[in-house]
Amino acid sequence: MNEQVIIFDTTLRDGEQSPGISLDVLEKLEIAEQLARLNVDYIEAGFPVASQGDFEAVQAIARRVEGPSIAALSRTQLRDVDRCWEALRDAERARIHIFISTSPSHLTHMLKMTNETVINEVKASVAHARSYTDDVEFSPQDATRTPLEFLYEVLQVAVDNGAGTINIPDTVGYGIPADFGHMVEEVRRNVHGEYVISSHCHNDLGLATANSLAAVAAGARQVECCVNGIGERAGNAALEEVVMALRVRSDLFDGLGTQVHTEELAKASRLVSRLTGYPVQYNKSVVGRNAFAHESGIHQHGVLAERSTYEVIDASAVGQQGSQIILGKHSGRHAFTSTLHDMGFDLAGDALNAAFERFKEMADRKSEITEADLEAIVTDELGVA
Ligand code: KIV
Ligand code: ZN
Repeated sequence: MNEQVIIFDTTLRDGEQSPGISLDVLEKLEIAEQLARLNVDYIEAGFPVASQGDFEAVQAIARRVEGPSIAALSRTQLRDVDRCWEALRDAERARIHIFISTSPSHLTHMLKMTNETVINEVKASVAHARSYTDDVEFSPQDATRTPLEFLYEVLQVAVDNGAGTINIPDTVGYGIPADFGHMVEEVRRNVHGEYVISSHCHNDLGLATANSLAAVAAGARQVECCVNGIGERAGNAALEEVVMALRVRSDLFDGLGTQVHTEELAKASRLVSRLTGYPVQYNKSVVGRNAFAHESGIHQHGVLAERSTYEVIDASAVGQQGSQIILGKHSGRHAFTSTLHDMGFDLAGDALNAAFERFKEMADRKSEITEADLEAIVTDELGVA
């Protein structure tokens, strides 16, 4: 089997950090069950020290959800690590994910720590986490604004003390694909030992998916992402985008794939949207309601002849309804006659010309023409009304 990219879903941790989202234990469990059906590799279930509710949610997911490994977040304080493990300990497979900021901005304004203290914190916390599980991930928060030499030093300490996954968080969405990919390459060159390199990209400049793909091209083998791209501020890399980009353009990624069951993507998107109260924008890639809808005449003509003329994804592969023809002012005769045919009306000659003209007049006034509108036009033209 080809090498695969590990999908580390953080919808229930970073995703839940979106302003206004708060999921209770049962809601988190319901989403976790759907993530298991999606077949993600890791579910980051929460941040146990953040609240009693989050602790209980991580514990419930660790106890009940089968399939993916369950991860939870921890600061470097040893009592955080203990609490994290307490929540995770009943999982079939559990990962402790430790983070601490490393950028000058965070160290000066938030942590008020020196580089040396950070190094000591990483050493102690990663080693402590390893006393509980052999699956430990380490994240240097705000990595993309951290001087490279210090970043290598911190990551080396994490690897030397037992972290098997080192993550490069673009915490503030500052990266650009070329430089983020370069950073991943440099980390691989300068940090020695056995580890998987991971990306965690925020979307402040709208580049989270592009940066994640650049990381994979540069050697990352884990991507952290959220369903519908939810997360702090402008969100995280969208799981559905990363997974489908890797699938559709596997030619550019040496055949690397994921083990995600993509037919479950639309369902996961709807569930997350319903339980978080965050709507999915109409034109959202892969899972938006317009992702497979065509309005202009030229596009409709193409899709009616052959779907791939204007679609790079087969809708059924992501659990969406197939190509939809939306009748509006840009639509042409092909779509008009084909929709009428599907409704049971086969018009020709003058009747068709007259009906089409009336449809175009109406489309200039209404943004979308419904079947009821078409029926009214046609029955009128046929003199049945
Ligand atoms: O964005 C970030 O830096 C994070 C870390 C905790 C991984 O979410
Ligand atoms: Zn994040």
